[in-house]
Amino acid sequence: MSDPSIISCDRLGKTYLDNSGREVVAFEDISLEIARGDFVTVIGPSGCGKTSLLFMLAGFESKTSGAMLIEGEPIKGPGADRAVVFQEYALFPWLNLRRNIEYGPREKAMPRDEMRRKVDEMLDVVGLASAAERYPHELSAGMRQRAALARVLVNEPKILLMDEPFAALDAQTRLSLQRELSRLSQELALTVMFITHSVEEAVLLGDRILVMTARPGQIYADVAVNLPKPRDPTAHEFSDRRRDVEDLLKRASAQTGETISIPIIV
Ligand SMILES: Nc1ncnc2c1ncn2[C@@H]1O[C@H](COP(=O)(O)OP(=O)(O)OP(=O)(O)O)[C@@H](O)[C@H]1O
Ligand SMILES: [Mg+2]
Repeated sequence: MSDPSIISCDRLGKTYLDNSGREVVAFEDISLEIARGDFVTVIGPSGCGKTSLLFMLAGFESKTSGAMLIEGEPIKGPGADRAVVFQEYALFPWLNLRRNIEYGPREKAMPRDEMRRKVDEMLDVVGLASAAERYPHELSAGMRQRAALARVLVNEPKILLMDEPFAALDAQTRLSLQRELSRLSQELALTVMFITHSVEEAVLLGDRILVMTARPGQIYADVAVNLPKPRDPTAHEFSDRRRDVEDLLKRASAQTGETISIPIIV
């Protein structure tokens, strides 16, 4: 049986009006098919429209032109099928970790026993079982970001939309979270769109890397990364890929969306 794309964008465009009423074209003409279970990383110069694209997929922002479908249906707003994780951890400071993770299930009026089981399972999955009764300010930055991940994953989304989620973490914590996310996304068969400014991170996580041009953003290159996971950043093949993507990013940054994009597979 053929499996249609879970995310599909056709000539998608987004234009904002700035404070003085002038049009700001964030991106235009983005056509994209993302297969179920794919981990797609997105990299591109600042202001090229990455967050705008993610917000539109999340249902937080409307489109200006083109079409955008999730499982063949137009996006009408936020939905339980999609979860968003930002750089800043979205935790309620007045609730302990367990209560934070319970938030979604409670909203859905999930029966107590089932909720308890799910939350325990999720705490385990992200390695925070022993910290369940602690409050966000008692956790390290890495633990808070793990908790933020657990808080959205407990709702069993199909699509995870991540906007530079690990950018504020130190290198070691970042690496451990990257590893966990990679494992989790495979285990849970999640479709992930992950924005980053780090080429290393893009290559470490992505089955596919979208390299965007400067604003108005377009997809300059669509890079398939066929290295097996978990990936070793010290391996030769990895360094080769990283260099390829660095070159593409340099070239893409020098271009704006007015030029025609050419998908490149390295
Ligand atoms: N609400 C808004 N109103 C007006 N302009 C906006 C709005 N949101 C974004 N923009 C503009 O749209 C463009 C794309 O912004 P966006 O935040 O999507 O870029 P980005 O690729 O995520 O950048 P960065 O890498 O710095 O996070 C920028 O020029 C930005 O100033
Ligand atoms: Mg952004």
